Amino acid sequence: MDPFLGFFVVAALGLLGIRVVHAGTVSMNDSICTVHASLDGSDDAPAILAAFDLCRRDSVISFVDDLYHIESVMNTTNLSNVQVNLHGTLLWGTNITYWRANGLPLDYLNMTTAWAFGGDKIVFNGYDRGTFDGNGQLWYDFTNGVSNLPGRPISLMITDTTRSVFSGIRFVQSQFWTMAIKSSDDVLLENIYVNSTSSSRAPARNTDGVDTFFSNQITFRNWTVTGGDDNISLKANSTNILIQDCVFHGGLGVAIGSIGQYPGVFETVENVTAERVSCFGTRYSGYIKTWTGIQQNFPPNGGGGGLGYAKNITFRDFTLANVTDEVARITQCTSFSGATGGCDTSLFQVSDITWGPMTGNVLSDTIAQLQCSGASPCPGVRFVGMDDIATSGSSRRVACSHVVDPSGFNCTV
Ligand SMILES: *[C@@H]1O[C@H](CO)[C@@H](O)[C@H](O)[C@H]1NC(C)=O
Ligand SMILES: *[C@@H]1O[C@H](CO)[C@@H](O)[C@H](O)[C@H]1NC(C)=O
Ligand SMILES: *[C@@H]1O[C@H](CO)[C@@H](O)[C@H](O)[C@H]1NC(C)=O
Ligand SMILES: *[C@@H]1O[C@H](CO)[C@@H](O)[C@H](O)[C@H]1NC(C)=O
Ligand SMILES: *[C@@H]1O[C@H](CO)[C@@H](O)[C@H](O)[C@H]1NC(C)=O
Ligand SMILES: *[C@@H]1O[C@H](CO)[C@@H](O)[C@H](O)[C@H]1NC(C)=O
Ligand SMILES: *[C@@H]1O[C@H](CO)[C@@H](O)[C@H](O)[C@H]1NC(C)=O
Ligand SMILES: *[C@@H]1O[C@H](CO)[C@@H](O)[C@H](O)[C@H]1NC(C)=O
Ligand SMILES: *[C@@H]1O[C@H](CO)[C@@H](O)[C@H](O)[C@H]1NC(C)=O
Ligand SMILES: *[C@@H]1O[C@H](CO)[C@@H](O)[C@H](O)[C@H]1NC(C)=O
Ligand SMILES: *[C@@H]1O[C@H](CO)[C@@H](O)[C@H](O)[C@H]1NC(C)=O
Ligand SMILES: *[C@@H]1O[C@H](CO)[C@@H](O)[C@H](O)[C@H]1NC(C)=O
Repeated sequence: MDPFLGFFVVAALGLLGIRVVHAGTVSMNDSICTVHASLDGSDDAPAILAAFDLCRRDSVISFVDDLYHIESVMNTTNLSNVQVNLHGTLLWGTNITYWRANGLPLDYLNMTTAWAFGGDKIVFNGYDRGTFDGNGQLWYDFTNGVSNLPGRPISLMITDTTRSVFSGIRFVQSQFWTMAIKSSDDVLLENIYVNSTSSSRAPARNTDGVDTFFSNQITFRNWTVTGGDDNISLKANSTNILIQDCVFHGGLGVAIGSIGQYPGVFETVENVTAERVSCFGTRYSGYIKTWTGIQQNFPPNGGGGGLGYAKNITFRDFTLANVTDEVARITQCTSFSGATGGCDTSLFQVSDITWGPMTGNVLSDTIAQLQCSGASPCPGVRFVGMDDIATSGSSRRVACSHVVDPSGFNCTV
């Protein structure tokens, strides 16, 4: 590309930002766009958008400075053959009013994101130091435990992305869910560090590590996820998902669902392997969660009555340390907060689920709580090599409802 274009962009941004003479800039040199942070801490999003616009194809985009301020939403989708090098920190701004009013739609569960990102053949490298900092404490205090507060933005939505790799990126203090992956195929996310930890009494609620939707062939390798509620969670139409070599501190573990939240809508999760995962103080190891068959209220916090299936899911070679509640869990009881019952109504079919081998301990007398719906009992539930897990009591409870022909275990309740 013409180097003059780069100078033009720098000049143009300068002209546009006459009042903000220290605004972030882009310099361009052969197909390399370098983003320079503003000198006065003002919004760097316009310069970043300019870089992604100039270098949207067959290019490299480099963030070379230590700190960039993001005060407005970004949509950088439809990239092609782009390498992104993030060496510093992207710090999201504190104007809650702005973010709640301007989030870009996830188009699912009424949720929004601060950055929609995507394309084909993208390599996004953080070199183990490039960081997304969502300034989440502000959100944890503001939200004060309310579930799925409208307009609380997902840090990064990877959408319509194919044949791409995200590597060595750190995500700290996410505003809400750290990542959502939507309508994507063949994406590897490796060496990812996620830590959303509240320093106040307000919990870091809903700071999921990543949620997937309408995506196929997604690999999560070497993730470290920390935080009161973090997890990797595979939702509507997630297929051929591989989770490897991950470490979870706290949170719920690897989750399938929640799913079945939209009445009459057919959704699936199929072919999932999670292997070589360490769970430190998580509530479960691998966990499957569907809404009941009765719709109550509306998503994101209400719903139910969804159809479809989750099948061929394997949680193997897990190391457990002080898992708090139980190791294996299926529940088809999820419903609007405060509502109870309906546990036998879900028509969502759970089948062919394998836990084990696993070693380590659970801080209860319960190995598993497998609550399948009476309206769609679960066949093909298997334990393989789960006998070495230590429980805290003398018993090893496996509580079951509507588990058909359990394999490798006996239901004790
Ligand atoms: C352009 O790139 C070349 C080599 O990659 C480098 O030597 C030169 O300093 C760069 N120029 C600018 C203005 O960044
Ligand atoms: C994506 O980019 C291609 C060219 O690179 C263009 O033809 C297409 O219209 C763009 N799609 C959208 C949704 O912007
Ligand atoms: C926060 O954002 C709102 C809505 O965009 C805007 O009206 C307000 O001026 C901003 N506040 C500050 C302190 O920038
Ligand atoms: C991002 O921009 C593209 C192209 O303008 C548009 O099609 C898409 O809907 C936008 N995405 C979001 C999440 O706003
Ligand atoms: C959906 O989000 C909008 C704006 O973010 C909010 O006003 C509305 O209450 C939300 N709906 C539900 C059902 O939460
Ligand atoms: C795993 O990811 C961390 C960054 O979170 C990195 O420091 C480490 O080298 C990675 N391990 C391997 C085996 O790649
Ligand atoms: C997560 O972050 C908190 C502080 O925000 C820190 O104390 C803790 O050590 C971090 N956990 C990991 C596993 O890095
Ligand atoms: C993941 O954790 C969040 C809490 O932050 C929770 O709302 C969500 O339901 C969890 N996902 C699953 C599938 O358990
Ligand atoms: C999910 O995939 C199934 C096919 O496996 C398809 O029938 C269904 O329409 C998809 N669901 C949605 C909400 O797109
Ligand atoms: C189940 O999924 C795994 C990948 O997770 C795949 O290798 C295996 O072939 C699948 N089995 C069936 C019966 O589809
Ligand atoms: C699941 O894996 C099996 C075996 O590899 C394959 O035949 C099947 O098509 C996969 N299912 C989906 C939804 O990709
Ligand atoms: C598990 O909890 C016990 C008792 O509190 C503690 O001694 C041990 O260090 C914990 N193990 C790990 C790996 O955190």
